[in-house]
Amino acid sequence: ELKDNTIIIVLGASGDLAKKKTFPALFGLYRQGFLPRDVKIVGYARTKMDQEEFHKRQTSYIKNPNEEPELTKSIEEFKAISTYVSGGYEDGESFDNLNRHLDEIESAYQSKERNRLFYLALPPSVFIPVAKNLKEHCYIFRSGVNRIIIEKPFGKDTASAKELLESVKEHWKEDETFRIDHYLGKEMVKNILVLRFANVTMNAAWDKNHISNVQITFKEPFGTEGRGGYFDEFGIIRDILQNHLLQVLSILTMERPVSFAAEDIRDEKVKVLRAIAPIEQSDCLLGQYVAANGKPGYLDDDTVPPNSVCPTFAACTLWIQNPRWEGVPFILKAGKALNEAKVEVRIQFKDVTQGIFKDIARNELVIRIQPSEAVYLKMNAKTPGLYTRAMPTEMDLTYKRRFTDAKIPEAYEALILDALRGDHSNFVRHDELDIAWKIFTPILHWIEGRPGYGNRPRPVPYPYGSRGPKELGEFIEKFGYKRSDQSYAWPVTNVA
Ligand code: BG6
Repeated sequence: ELKDNTIIIVLGASGDLAKKKTFPALFGLYRQGFLPRDVKIVGYARTKMDQEEFHKRQTSYIKNPNEEPELTKSIEEFKAISTYVSGGYEDGESFDNLNRHLDEIESAYQSKERNRLFYLALPPSVFIPVAKNLKEHCYIFRSGVNRIIIEKPFGKDTASAKELLESVKEHWKEDETFRIDHYLGKEMVKNILVLRFANVTMNAAWDKNHISNVQITFKEPFGTEGRGGYFDEFGIIRDILQNHLLQVLSILTMERPVSFAAEDIRDEKVKVLRAIAPIEQSDCLLGQYVAANGKPGYLDDDTVPPNSVCPTFAACTLWIQNPRWEGVPFILKAGKALNEAKVEVRIQFKDVTQGIFKDIARNELVIRIQPSEAVYLKMNAKTPGLYTRAMPTEMDLTYKRRFTDAKIPEAYEALILDALRGDHSNFVRHDELDIAWKIFTPILHWIEGRPGYGNRPRPVPYPYGSRGPKELGEFIEKFGYKRSDQSYAWPVTNVA
C-alpha cells in the first residue's frame, strides 16, 4: 500500500526533534527497504545552509550509519535522496519556493501520480501558519495524496487545544492528519491489545473483580538540562501524563474493539476516556527535584524562572466510571531526575481468599515498555522440596531472551511507516485529544494558580537521582497497593 512517487518533507529540519528522531527513523526505514520506491526527502527550515551542511546535521544522530552491510541502503544513498530548502514559516513566497523545489523533483517521476507527506517537527507557535501555508502553496490537487504529521504540544488546556486543532482542521481533513503520540508506536504498547484480547486467561481477569490497582509509571534518570525553558511552560503532566501515559491507560482499559481497524480501535478508546472523571486535587502528588549528589536542582537551570513551582514529578490517580472498572484506582506517575530509566505498567491483582494462606503475595502483571521489553507475572508457587510452602516466583517473557533475532523497531519508524500507508490506528483522533484535555485541565489550572481553583499547590522537593518524593510510598498505599517487602526471601507460608 505504499505509494510510489512520494516526497517526505520535514519542516523544522534543523531542530532537535528532526535530528534526534525523524531523520534517524527515516534512515532506519530507508536502509531496511521500507520507504516507497524512488522516495525523496526534503528538509525545510529557516536556517540558511548548503546541502553538505544539511546532510551533516541530518545524519548527526544516526547511530552506526555504516553498520549492518547486509541492509539494502547506505547512508550515502540516504544523503543522495535528501535535499534542503530554507525559508520562513509565515510567508507564502517561501512556500511557493518550496513548492517549486518539490515540482522539480516530481517532474522526473514517470507517472502523473504525486504524493507528499509533510512532517511538522516544529514549535507550536508556527503550527497554524505552516498548516495553512502548506495547504495553500504546496498541496497537490491533482492525482495523489497529501498527508500531514503533527506532534505535541497540542495546546495547553482544553480551550487552547481546541483552537489549535480547529485551525489545522480548516485546511487539513481528518484522514489527511496524523497526530503523533510516539508512545503508540512502541512495540510493547502495541502488544497490549494482543495480550488482552488474544488470551482468554488475561481477558477473564481484566476487571474490578480481580484487579486491585494499576500503576503506569514513567521514570527518567535525567533532569530538564537545556530544555528547562520549554519544560517550565508545560510541566510533567502535559509532557508525559496527559498524552503518553493516558494513551497507555486507554488501550489497557478499553472494551474489545469490533476489529483492528483504526476507527474501531479509536471509538473504544474514546468511549473509555469519556468515562474518566476530571482528576481531583486530592488525588495528586506533585514534586520538583532539588540538587543532590553533585547534580543541579530544577531551579538551578538558568533557563528556568526563579521560584518556579512547575512540577517535574506527578502522580495522579484516575477513576473510570464504568461497570468494568468502577472503584479501581489507576495511578499515573512520571518524573524527571529519578533513580532510573523505566516505563512500565504494573497491574496488582486482589488478595487471594485467605484461610489456607496468610499474607501471601498478590499476583502482579508487569508490562515493561522500556528498557528491555518484558511481560512478567508474579505468581506464587510451591517451593520445590519435601515440604509444602509457597513462594513468589515469576512467569517471565523477556523479549531479548525469547525473541533472540527480532529487531524491535523504533517508535518513530513504526509511526512514519503507518502514516505512509495511511493507517491511523496508532495516531490520536481529534475527539480523543479533546477528552484527554478535559480530564487534566482542572488540575492544570489549579497548578497554574488560576483564580477559582483553590490555593496554588507547591510541589514537594525530591533529590535528583532519588525514587521521587518521600510521600510517594504512602500515596500509592492509600490507593490500595500492597508492597510485599518479603520479596524472595519469603518466610514459610503454611499451607493446610
Ligand atoms: C517526550 C517528552 O514526549 O517524551 C520528553 O517531551 C521525554 O520530555 C520523551 O523525554 C520520552 O520519550 P522516550 O521515547 O524516550 O520514552
